[in-house]
Amino acid sequence: KATPRVRQLTASLIQHLHDFARENDLTVDEWMLGVELMNEAGRMSDDRRNEGQLVCDVLGLESLVDEITFKLASDAADEPTATAILGPFYRHDAPKLPMGACIVDEKTNKEGDRTWMHGTITDFTTGKPIEGVEVDVWHTAPNGLYEQQDPDQPDMNLRGTLTTGKDGKYDFYCLRPVPYPIPYDGPAGKILKALDRHPYRPAHIHFLLKHHGYKPIVTQIFDRNSKYIEDDAVFAVKDSLLVDFKPFQGDPKADFELPYDFKMASF
Ligand code: DHB
Ligand code: FE
Repeated sequence: KATPRVRQLTASLIQHLHDFARENDLTVDEWMLGVELMNEAGRMSDDRRNEGQLVCDVLGLESLVDEITFKLASDAADEPTATAILGPFYRHDAPKLPMGACIVDEKTNKEGDRTWMHGTITDFTTGKPIEGVEVDVWHTAPNGLYEQQDPDQPDMNLRGTLTTGKDGKYDFYCLRPVPYPIPYDGPAGKILKALDRHPYRPAHIHFLLKHHGYKPIVTQIFDRNSKYIEDDAVFAVKDSLLVDFKPFQGDPKADFELPYDFKMASF
């Protein structure tokens, strides 16, 4: 729809594209390469492969709009939990699980360090726990693949949705994730190669927190000791999202413990 906002964004995009062509004396052949890149991304994209978003991500665009959006939303001194990019591998309708559930499929995931993650979700202005927060979590298997990228993993492996009770607490069992490369056999990979950049992301776990009274939080937490913390291929790392996996004794289901609290901002 041609709202004033759509007109503004479209006009501005055209202006910057023309400036780009003029500043670089862009030739027809060079422009055609860009067209082919876009077409290839379109051909590649389906439910399992979100190449358009991947291209934006290696260009740092999703990370930039995340930062702009988060800044607009937070004006207070004590901030709610920082946001981070959604990434191309989110899936709707992850299975609803009870607190303390394990998101690891025991048959296919023999490797990987079992981790017990837990924390409290509070209102960042009052500090009070929030009941009824939907916590969506997802991460990769030890082979660096999300379940939809990997025919060997069962549907919805390493994904789940939990809902906090009165105490605002959540907990579940997962794996300690590892660094892995984003898919680099397509246009996103070509861009990385052109810039001599690697395709790796540091070990991370994704979250989407939702509650009707609060602004949703799309974020990721990062293993502080992971490789690539300093040079994430998609620029998503923020200091406040670095976490420490702690060796954990006394629970046969986990070798590591990961405490992390989230703070949400009301509308
Ligand atoms: C991207 C983000 C991810 O979280 C991921 O696992 C892979 C790729 C991305 O933004 O491109
Ligand atoms: Fe990811």
